[in-house]
Amino acid sequence: MDSRLEDILKWFKDSRGNITVLTGAGISAESGIPTFRGKDGYWTVGSKEYHPQEMATFRMFKLRPYDVWQWYLYRKTVCARAKPNSGHFALVELENIFMERFCLITQNVDGLHLRAGNTTERTYQIHGNINFMRCSRECSDEIFPVPPEIPPQDKTSRISEEEKRLLVCPHCGALSRPHVLWFDECYNEKYFRFDSSIRKAKETDLLLVVGTSGATNLPMQVGSLVVRKGGAIIDINPEINPFSGMAERVKNGYHYQGSSGEILPEIVDFLKA
Ligand code: APR
Repeated sequence: MDSRLEDILKWFKDSRGNITVLTGAGISAESGIPTFRGKDGYWTVGSKEYHPQEMATFRMFKLRPYDVWQWYLYRKTVCARAKPNSGHFALVELENIFMERFCLITQNVDGLHLRAGNTTERTYQIHGNINFMRCSRECSDEIFPVPPEIPPQDKTSRISEEEKRLLVCPHCGALSRPHVLWFDECYNEKYFRFDSSIRKAKETDLLLVVGTSGATNLPMQVGSLVVRKGGAIIDINPEINPFSGMAERVKNGYHYQGSSGEILPEIVDFLKA
């Protein structure tokens, strides 16, 4: 391991401070889930008819709810067929080492962190979870699992009348919607742990950023708050991105250019030694 990185990790170990991990689609790439802006990314390839990011809007959901559901059920199937990788498992070890000093803020809706073993208590899914749905009329704040009776869907499947009857709010019977944050919607605390993420950022001594291109708002706010606090930032990404820039600006910063599946176990081994 590079001595500068070792120095940062030693500093953190001695500080007995708080560690926050911020993840993006890159950590799940080695599990076979496409990223968003990579060569085969969802926003690069997208759906047959529409500009990719249009599908991820409440506007499109109102216009064509079953096309949007179709696309999310297809992505849910891709996530269900994937398995957590060594990067996910390393973060479970990290939570077990640092417990209440640990927090995981993930942009991923794939649910792989929870499947690997991170706790719901310390895992903030700030863009939602594709395995859940809620009432599109918001008759309650409750979040429900997508009915398991709905079979796996591939890219060309069409939702059947029977499946449409299952995609409803268990309380009021209105159409349900995927529990994900869409581009024309805002972060909040009740669904996406916005305030909790900001609070954690202000208490963070070491921020580990993994596999994100820094294209969304709250993650960038988290990074800026850690910079302002003088905390350390380690960015793990094969590509340069706004967080590697932040890491270069702080005293204790490091951009580890490579894959999270290899690098995270190495860092955890060093921290637990
Ligand atoms: N290990 C680490 N990083 C990787 C790996 C890997 N094996 N493979 C790819 N990456 C990096 C890429 O270099 C890229 O910087 O992961 C990043 C993925 O970036 P995006 O595809 O933009 O995904 P993400 O940053 O998670 O997108 C953020 O945008 O579209 C919205 O809601 C969506 O949650 C998503 C958010």
